[in-house]
Amino acid sequence: MAFLADALSRVKPSATIAVSQKARELKAKGRDVIGLGAGEPDFDTPDNIKQAAIEAINRGETKYTPVSGIPELREAIVRKFKRENNLDYTAAQTIVGTGGKQILFNAFMATMNPGDEVVIPTPYWVSYPEMVSLCGGTPVFVATTQENKFKLKAEDLERAITPKTKWFVFNSPSNPSGAAYSHDELKALTDVLMRHPHVWVLTDDMYEHLTYGDFRFATPVEVEPGLYDRTLTMNGVSKAYAMTGWRIGYAAGPLALIKAMDMIQGQQTSGACSIAQWAAVEALNGPQDFIPANKKIFEGRRDLVVSMLNQAKGIECPSPEGAFYVYPSCKGLIGKAAPSGKVIETDEDFVSELLEAEGVAVVHGSAFGLGPNFRISYATSEALLEEACKRIQRFCAACK
Ligand SMILES: Cc1ncc(COP(=O)(O)O)c(C=O)c1O
Repeated sequence: MAFLADALSRVKPSATIAVSQKARELKAKGRDVIGLGAGEPDFDTPDNIKQAAIEAINRGETKYTPVSGIPELREAIVRKFKRENNLDYTAAQTIVGTGGKQILFNAFMATMNPGDEVVIPTPYWVSYPEMVSLCGGTPVFVATTQENKFKLKAEDLERAITPKTKWFVFNSPSNPSGAAYSHDELKALTDVLMRHPHVWVLTDDMYEHLTYGDFRFATPVEVEPGLYDRTLTMNGVSKAYAMTGWRIGYAAGPLALIKAMDMIQGQQTSGACSIAQWAAVEALNGPQDFIPANKKIFEGRRDLVVSMLNQAKGIECPSPEGAFYVYPSCKGLIGKAAPSGKVIETDEDFVSELLEAEGVAVVHGSAFGLGPNFRISYATSEALLEEACKRIQRFCAACK
């Protein structure tokens, strides 16, 4: 009898965590490494949010909370959805989890049966397919193209749906491509979904507040209220409020689904950290001026990185609407010899040769299901980004 679960054989470790780990190891050996792999803002959590947590500790808010979250946070989530997305939910239709990651996991746990399919556009956030597989479902990938700015075409979504499709996973702005769907682009997809009433929508709006220029964020139920009874709208405080370590995510959706997720969470964590929940109340209810100030900084970094990468020989880098990632193509380098003499055959070869030669850590696109590309997280200082892009330019020029 095998000791480890069969389910583990279907799961891959996270490539993004692996890259960060490799960069740390090289640094520990004394190498000068710039890590552009991590998906978290480099800013500190705003002081008012930290203060709310300190006050919660001092008030003795240190006990178990209701499984789905403290009433104050669930009310703050209701107000957030109304204020920012024009969506009406009751507090009972909301749930708080230990990060958006756990919300997603619990949604799949609560709904997956063997044979159920989950449609996931590529490139995707690395955890979606692994979560689906762990929960016994089958990921079904639908490719996007760089020409279409990594956005899914309605006809491709239509073709991917079968009688077994349970969920369509939607993520805008996207990790890893940064692509964000306008209202009209999203409407083309929701029109398809309206023709398939058995398909539920899991929308991951984690990067909602990180969009640039005059782009206006839209979420599926806002665009098509007809999807209200079969959509789980997920969001969190990690990216918008620089709170990755606090581990608070949340969602709103149909009551029966929320209750099922509550039941799983009750047997799993008993709910998210009490202190972090009070911090999240302040994040959602408190001053929001942190968000536009950060957006401006991120936008400047995006423009810098896109412009410098497009000057690197063999690299093509579209300028995405949101998140803090770019997803350039390294197709022009495939078949060339790296400075080490090794021929670059895949995007994985490209990133490992780049790390060896220039000490720049990025993540290969094949880890996100679409290549030959690579992902750069620009959630780091302009000085480091400039240096990293100079090194990438030098590396590309040295490939023959
Ligand atoms: C697209 C996307 N969804 C969800 C998450 C999970 O966020 P958290 O668990 O920190 O709330 C991440 C984090 O990287 C992400 O990139």
